[in-house]
Amino acid sequence: MKRIGILTSGGDSPGMNAAIRAAVRYGIYYDMEVYGIHKGFEGLIDGEFEKMDRRSVADTMQRGGTFLRTARSDRFMTEEGMEKAARNLETFKINDLIVIGGNGSLTGAYELSKRHGINVMGIPGTIDRDLAYTDHTIGFDTALNTVLDAITRIRDTSSAHERTTVIEVMGRHCGDIALYAGLTGGAEYVLVPEVEGDINELCQKIIEGTLAGKLHSIIMRAEGYPMSSTELVKEIEKRTDKEVKLVVLSYLQRGGSPTFKDRMFATECAVKAIELIKEGVKNRAIGESCGEVKDFDIGEALNVKRDFRYDIFRGVDILSR
Ligand code: F6P
Repeated sequence: MKRIGILTSGGDSPGMNAAIRAAVRYGIYYDMEVYGIHKGFEGLIDGEFEKMDRRSVADTMQRGGTFLRTARSDRFMTEEGMEKAARNLETFKINDLIVIGGNGSLTGAYELSKRHGINVMGIPGTIDRDLAYTDHTIGFDTALNTVLDAITRIRDTSSAHERTTVIEVMGRHCGDIALYAGLTGGAEYVLVPEVEGDINELCQKIIEGTLAGKLHSIIMRAEGYPMSSTELVKEIEKRTDKEVKLVVLSYLQRGGSPTFKDRMFATECAVKAIELIKEGVKNRAIGESCGEVKDFDIGEALNVKRDFRYDIFRGVDILSR
């Protein structure tokens, strides 16, 4: 009887529970014993393992967050911590580990496979979409819809008061939430870490918009953009003489019931992971490419660099003139 482990790591994201649910139920269907590991790599080091059954994942599909909980683990990046984690897996006779998380988490999983021979399956779970090998990550769609809902609400009041609003969104070093929400939310400008950005050009656009009869402006700032949101607000006020407000969406982007897209993608990734383990395939990163869920060598996947979508960046400008 094959025993496998599953954990969620790093920032939680809506849809992680759907992935755990599918992995547990497909694993049991294929006569595996599935162990949930609580609190990510911290729990792996502390031996917080719980044997799952079908009921363990009941009523979880629609919930955001992760019922296995998650944590960021500096200890895991030490040889001692990783050694302890590997020993715990050995004690439980678990040699196959599914890790659901972002870039840092999948990199940690890869290290565990290289140093200790654990077979790892990486499932991309993060709202950031900061894993370049895959077109989607679990939680990105739900987070974008949360941000779009916020933009719609802000547009109402921003127009009423003829204000400019800076909206700060998450993404760590990746600007995709700001970029895609900016395009589809009708923002005038997006500031992302991938592009230097031109504050003069931004302010000029706000002034021209007012002269053309625009009642308000929305500026999306990704949290990884070098200039801080408060500094940006001050700069815009100084150069445009407009009233500028700041909205930091922060952890709102991480919560909420996962959308269909995130539930479906999470389920497909988990099923793929279980079937690869069943077939004896090792050390894969699972993701979406050209609309299909596929698997890739995890080492190669983590080395893929994403080309920034300058066409979308330009589209924000053209569509908001
Ligand atoms: O990686 C997901 C993420 O939400 C990032 O966008 C954000 O910068 C980070 O997590 C916040 O981390 P924490 O939840 O540990 O404060």
